[in-house]
Amino acid sequence: MLFDTHAHIDDNRFAGETDQVIARAQKEGVSLIVNVGYDLLHAGQSIALAEKYDFIYASVGLHPHDAKDADEKFWQEIYKLANHPKVVAIGEIGLDYYYENSPRDVQREVFRRQIRVAKDLNLPIIIHNRDAHQDTLSIVREENASLVGGVFHAFSGSWETAREVLNLGFYISVGGPVTFKNARKIVEVVEKTPLSSLLIETDCPYLTPHPYRGQRNEPAYVRFVAEKIAEIKKISYEEVAAVTKENGMRLFKINL
Ligand code: NI
Repeated sequence: MLFDTHAHIDDNRFAGETDQVIARAQKEGVSLIVNVGYDLLHAGQSIALAEKYDFIYASVGLHPHDAKDADEKFWQEIYKLANHPKVVAIGEIGLDYYYENSPRDVQREVFRRQIRVAKDLNLPIIIHNRDAHQDTLSIVREENASLVGGVFHAFSGSWETAREVLNLGFYISVGGPVTFKNARKIVEVVEKTPLSSLLIETDCPYLTPHPYRGQRNEPAYVRFVAEKIAEIKKISYEEVAAVTKENGMRLFKINL
């Protein structure tokens, strides 16, 4: 049984097909999904999905791309949404210096403030970090986010960065890029990271694994990530599936 810890099933690219996409996921053994919000609209949509499907949970937060839009209304609403019983995390939040759609100082401030929301509500955080490894780690340290813990989603850093993440008690989530033929850094990270600190995800509709690279991603494909981790770590697929699912349930405090 598989836990896709990072999906965006409410994305427009799934419009009108949600039920089929979810049915395919269940057929492939996906038994838990966190649908991740990244602004108020998608936080609300994630909660609506979680209300409709037992095995789907939601997270709420503001993506660094949109940090510039964090107004007073946002801060009021995020608290309300985060109190929903099926919201299991604050995210995705963090820093994106690659696209830099919001000024870096604004991204940092909004990231810090959302970590404080997570700590107020005792929820773990889902971190998006692109080309901002050192600032992300500094803020996680300075805000003492280890108190609530969390995950670095779609991890793309080096083993040196991964080691710092692990020392902070955070999980590393692995997505489709680990299956790519030219994958190097993430393969090394998977090799060296204990299975007890790994999560798996699709980030669908993005980051589609081999052999469907280039097409739309969906939760059913998270099995390709689990298969690749099993191959890299020379353990069974079943062990990867079971342990990464337990890890996710521990992090997101899901008790079934
Ligand atoms: Ni995402």
